[in-house]
Amino acid sequence: MQPLHLWFLAGVGLLAAACDARPAEAPKPVVLPPVAPGELRSPEAFASIQDNDARAASIFLEASKVLLHPRCVNCHPHDGVPRQGDSGERHSPPAERGPRDRGVAAMECTSCHQVQNLELARVPGAPGWHLAPAEMAWLGRSPAAICAQIKDPARNGKKTLAQIVEHSARDALVAWGWAPGHGRTKAPGTQAQFGALVDAWVKAGAACPPEEARP
Ligand code: HEC
Ligand code: HEC
Repeated sequence: MQPLHLWFLAGVGLLAAACDARPAEAPKPVVLPPVAPGELRSPEAFASIQDNDARAASIFLEASKVLLHPRCVNCHPHDGVPRQGDSGERHSPPAERGPRDRGVAAMECTSCHQVQNLELARVPGAPGWHLAPAEMAWLGRSPAAICAQIKDPARNGKKTLAQIVEHSARDALVAWGWAPGHGRTKAPGTQAQFGALVDAWVKAGAACPPEEARP
């Protein structure tokens, strides 16, 4: 056979091989164990996800069921107004962030909000009640955006990831989300479970979910 023909045949062979090649093995979709509304999956539920970044991202999405809950978001707005209730209405009576996130003179948060819930007056309370600084705003943001800012020391109050875990598991304002009083819906799961998820997210490398992902 002429060398030219050989090249031709080799070319056809390569082409055929290329056409035959299956698309690269797609990662198998991971089926997470079912979970009831109002509950959280534990970190073990994500153990079958081999890739660290994918596992961290899935764990963060689970934790964002809490982060996006009205009990948390109402105190993490981007503007000067706390929100209230499950539909995030503007705070009534009117209240303003003020220069240090603690209200304005004669209308400080703690002039109404005590260290514990006041059941009869329906005023929620916990020690040191005040708004999260605007750079820690979650209202209207995606899990991806919240993830990025929560691990950015410039936007998380200069916290290390270990301090974020500690804050999640122990902070008194966070704890209020599971004991909000006066018939308010509590955040899903328990604070201990939430803290364990944040801890597992950090241990898996703290990767963030894609922008469009929702819990
Ligand atoms: C009464 C208002 C209030 C409520 C309710 C509240 N937070 Fe916060 N949150 C704050 C304040 C204030 C800070 C800033 C604390 C600091 O920097 O020391 C903060 C900071 C945080 C941080 C630190 C990092 C960051 O970038 O945001 C986390 C994590 C957090 N809150 C989680 C939660 C979760 C989860 C809930 C609901 C279960 C919640 N918070 C409910 C006021 C609140
Ligand atoms: C004049 C009294 C008063 C002041 C001042 C005040 N609050 Fe409130 N706040 C209330 C009352 C009363 C409620 C309960 C409203 C309801 O549930 O009907 C409330 C509810 C809330 C809630 C809603 C909790 C939820 O998830 O439903 C948040 C968050 C909150 N306040 C934050 C603040 C912050 C932060 C400040 C200071 C910047 C502040 N408040 C100042 C009286 C006050």
